[in-house]
Amino acid sequence: MAETVRIPAPLALLAELTHRCPLSCPYCSNPFELIARERELDTDTWADIFRQAAEIGVLQLHLSGGEPASRRDLVELVEAAREAGLYVNLITSGIGLTRERLEALDAAGVDHIQLSLQGVRAETADYIGGYKGGFDRKMRVADQIAEIGFALTLNAVMHRHNLDDLPRTLEMAVEMGARRIEVACVQFQGWALKNRGMLQPSRAQVYTAKATVAEARARYRGVLAIDFVPPDYFADYPKPCMGGWGSTGLNIAPDGTVLPCHAAETIPDLTFQNAKDTPLSEIWYNGAAFNAFRGTDWMPELCRSCDRRDLDFGGCRCQAMALAGDPAATDPICRKSPHRALVDAAIEADTVPAPGQQFEYRKL
Ligand code: SF4
Ligand code: FES
Repeated sequence: MAETVRIPAPLALLAELTHRCPLSCPYCSNPFELIARERELDTDTWADIFRQAAEIGVLQLHLSGGEPASRRDLVELVEAAREAGLYVNLITSGIGLTRERLEALDAAGVDHIQLSLQGVRAETADYIGGYKGGFDRKMRVADQIAEIGFALTLNAVMHRHNLDDLPRTLEMAVEMGARRIEVACVQFQGWALKNRGMLQPSRAQVYTAKATVAEARARYRGVLAIDFVPPDYFADYPKPCMGGWGSTGLNIAPDGTVLPCHAAETIPDLTFQNAKDTPLSEIWYNGAAFNAFRGTDWMPELCRSCDRRDLDFGGCRCQAMALAGDPAATDPICRKSPHRALVDAAIEADTVPAPGQQFEYRKL
């Protein structure tokens, strides 16, 4: 008998306001096909979406991209979100933000800023972000964020080229007045998969990073909260991606396509609805894409009969698609997966970089 799945209200909405971005990070998790400016939703449509989101229970809005500051109407969007009663988190590289704009965003009601950090010195950061002068501009914006008094989280995506700088990364977070840092080892989704061979850290780097985080958590207790996302490939069990498919939040692409996660479009045969023509509540509760991997009926027997199934929900559907070619397979990160050998082989291959290998930078 088919199970009955209780669908909770969504808690968070990630609004990808634009795919435009001055940086071209090789680890970008946005899809291969980016959405051009002409197809982006306008201000009023986003405002309506924010109202609908609040009505169905969303509490937190994450304004993301691309670079959300590339939207000229960013302040108006924040005002609309606050009017809808949403907690507003702005996820930004800082490029495109001036003191004047930050003050306007503060007045409009931004609750929290999440600032990305590509590296701890200009040479590394500008190389990784593919944007000369980006580091210095970001440092100026970080000072202004502190002066205005925004709640700040530093978001450091870590990989082979910057993991050795983790101690300095943590120090910088404290110096910037961040209350929290997310040390997120790169996830190989979207464009990042193209650069896996250049980004995958070595085993030694991963062990050292874990020890550094453990020591820093004790040292910075009460000063800086440290979230650490270790690299998937080195784990024995997968992460509970999105807290389980269609269970905690939704992502909306710049053109209004509503997705259960940012990489969902890599899964063929799923049809995605658009918030321009279908109410958000209909998409969340009854949308075929959202219901595709809810509950446990879709799971392979390996996961359905496993005592971790309510902890990790079988892992990440997009990773199962990318590595095993089957979105309904057990995530190949899992030691029990028949596809785990693919992950181990990838680690071995990736950690010996090919001579002359270069980043493939992301460009719109
Ligand atoms: Fe998670 Fe499935 Fe592996 Fe069990 S078998 S640990 S549910 S991925
Ligand atoms: Fe899509 Fe994990 S990124 S389910």
